[in-house]
Amino acid sequence: MSNLISHSHIWATLKNHQKYLASVQMQDLFALDEQRYENFSVVACDLLLDYSKNRLTKDTLHLLKQLATKANLENWIKELFSGELVNNTEHRAALHVALRNRSNTKITVNGEDVMPNVNAVLAKMRKFSNAVRDGDWLGYTGKRINTIVNIGIGGSDLGPAMVTRALRTYQHPLLQSHFVSNVDSSHLGDILSKIDPETTLFIIASKTFTTQETLLNAHTARNWLIEKLGSDTAVAKHFVAVSTATQKVSEFGIDPVNMFEFWDWVGGRYSLWSAIGLPITVMIGMEQFEELLTGAHELDQHFATAPLLENLPILMGLIDVWYSSFFGTTSQAVLPYDYTLKLFPAYLQQLVMESLGKQVTRDGDLVDYSTCPVIWGAPGNNGQHAFYQLLHQGTQVIPTDFIVAIESNFDLPSAEHQDAVLSNALAQSHALMMGRNLAKTKQKLVDIGIQGNDLAQQLPHRVFPGNQPSNTIIYKKLTPKVLGKLIALYEHKVFVQSVCWGINPFDQWGVELGKNVASTLLPALRTEQDGNIHDSSTNGLLNYIKTYRHK
Ligand code: F6P
Repeated sequence: MSNLISHSHIWATLKNHQKYLASVQMQDLFALDEQRYENFSVVACDLLLDYSKNRLTKDTLHLLKQLATKANLENWIKELFSGELVNNTEHRAALHVALRNRSNTKITVNGEDVMPNVNAVLAKMRKFSNAVRDGDWLGYTGKRINTIVNIGIGGSDLGPAMVTRALRTYQHPLLQSHFVSNVDSSHLGDILSKIDPETTLFIIASKTFTTQETLLNAHTARNWLIEKLGSDTAVAKHFVAVSTATQKVSEFGIDPVNMFEFWDWVGGRYSLWSAIGLPITVMIGMEQFEELLTGAHELDQHFATAPLLENLPILMGLIDVWYSSFFGTTSQAVLPYDYTLKLFPAYLQQLVMESLGKQVTRDGDLVDYSTCPVIWGAPGNNGQHAFYQLLHQGTQVIPTDFIVAIESNFDLPSAEHQDAVLSNALAQSHALMMGRNLAKTKQKLVDIGIQGNDLAQQLPHRVFPGNQPSNTIIYKKLTPKVLGKLIALYEHKVFVQSVCWGINPFDQWGVELGKNVASTLLPALRTEQDGNIHDSSTNGLLNYIKTYRHK
């Protein structure tokens, strides 16, 4: 007897239901139900989710709700919030909700309340970021810090970089920030060429403090600073660390006094709420960071308490399961019509794909259904002039999230800009849903004077099949609080998907193999002899590089 959810009665019912909906046009669903928008949209936590432009009916929702019940979703949510070891392959809790638990209620892991430690680190972050922002933390030569360089990768980079970028209007006017993640010298080298060692503070962010890219970049930055300032003692004034690994931080040469701690129950891609948020607190201040936490906490409470079909992350998660596992969609686009969210798609790529890019269940059984889609996207207007062609006339069903700000964070004298953004966003989701059929297209072409052979030739190219599904999420303005809600919404949506698919969203064993192979290739790259340890392609590439690298 299989434990896979795909062998359940409700899964089979959903499969049959999909067969019916596969041939239904969304525009017909709208025509049949004048209240479709009212029936398929929710406002909660100051976010509007309009999910009416999806290939679903009330029946679909009720079946998906049964799927959630079958997967024991409500119980899993309780376990997540109460510090149970939901990361079963690493025997850890996943308590990002504790990091933003503004109610400060007790949350225990292995019998110990984590909140006193969470609050103590927040207090340390406040003290430090205030000192930098107020000009009290001085560099080795006595100058005030005006540049922050965060060195980290993955969750130790993407979250803080995305938030800092998104909340740029809240930044301290005398501070600038850079985020270095890639190990090729064009990243760090470029930044070092632009900054002043006397006024720069490096934040070395690594949960494990073993990540090759981060440590190599950190060592190079350290050597650069010592060379420029002429003394090892300068490091104490220009380097701080964020990590769970005190011993390793100290071995690197950063005094643990200048280390901001977090814990193994904080997953890398869920860590921006922890001390990993230090570049955020320095750039926008602790009060605004706390607003971010408050927003996320409000969304957490909504997730934990709202009924299933009024619950934003649950609705979004179930809809995503519907498309991936029943429609067989393989990618999902995220299109912010708010340029401050430029980095949001990249941030979501790690959050979603590192969490859900799995092929076995928690019990180790191979799944026989599709799980995680490929996440991609870009700010909406840029996308319209690049890849929307594929959305409108390509051959794939690509569920899309339109994320729309009613007001911009940057005021320009003319209201035209925001009007243009809003009209574009609404037009695109409408056009993707409605399409334009053959008859309407023909009429349109005739109206503009196209006839005869030209008409026959152009007609098939000018038809839009439509029926492309989308969610639209609208908020008034991207404040820190709203951003906190938006991020938490996606985090919990991922959790809902993981529960339905029976997979652990909190481990990432898939990143190990490449790291292991790299450690065997590094010495092979450095020896004179031809490499002969891998397949012929890898050996060929290795030897080609060795032949030409110094010529
Ligand atoms: O390689 C993947 C990963 O482990 C991510 O999960 C993590 O966010 C990133 O590397 C960085 O890890 P660390 O913070 O330990 O340097």
